[in-house]
Amino acid sequence: MFNLAVLISGRGSNLQAIQKNIESGILQNMAQIAVVISSKADAAGLTFAREHGLTAVICPAEKDVLAELVKYNIDLICLAGYMRIISPEFVQKYAGKIINIHPTLLPKYPGLHVHEKVLAAGEKESGCTVHYVDTGVDTGKIIAQRKVPVLPGDTPDTLAARVLEQEHILYSEVILSLCQK
Ligand code: GAR
Repeated sequence: MFNLAVLISGRGSNLQAIQKNIESGILQNMAQIAVVISSKADAAGLTFAREHGLTAVICPAEKDVLAELVKYNIDLICLAGYMRIISPEFVQKYAGKIINIHPTLLPKYPGLHVHEKVLAAGEKESGCTVHYVDTGVDTGKIIAQRKVPVLPGDTPDTLAARVLEQEHILYSEVILSLCQK
C-alpha cells in the first residue's frame, strides 16, 4: 500500500477527491492517506479529514510538518492547495517524493491569481498541472496536465470551477501512475 501525506491550507476539495478515489475509485487498494497536514487551523479540509477517519494535524511551521512526516512511512507527499513555500531542506529530504497540483498549464501562469491572468491574456485554453516540487515556485518537472477551454463570458470563478473538475481527476490519475512505478 502506497502511503500518502496530503498537505492542505484550505477547502480541501482535492483532498476529498483523492480520498473518494481511495474509498471507491481508481486508488482503492492502491494507496491510503497516512496523514493530512494543514498549515491552518480553520481549514475546511481538516473537518472532512476527521469525518472520514483520517489522521489530521495542524502544523503552522515547517519544522512541525517535518516532525509529523517522520512518524509515517510516507511514499508520496501531495500538496493540495498548500499555500506555503517549501524550503530547500524539505525538498532535498524528500527528493522526488513531493508533488503539487496547480490550476494552470505550467509553465504558463505560476503563482497566484492565475485565472484572472489567463482571462486577461485572452487565452483560449487553460487547465491544470501536476508537477514534482523543486526549490522554485511551480517550476518542478511536469508529470501530467489536463486541459479545458476558456469560454466566452468566463469569469475567474467559472474558469476556476471548470479547471477544478479536471484537477480532481488528474491528481488521482497521477498518484495511481506513481503507485504503479
Ligand atoms: C486548487 O485549485 C489548487 O490547484 C490550487 O489551490 C486550489 C486548492 O483547492 N493550488 C495552487 O494554486 C498552488 N499554487 P482545494 O483546497 O479545494 O483542493
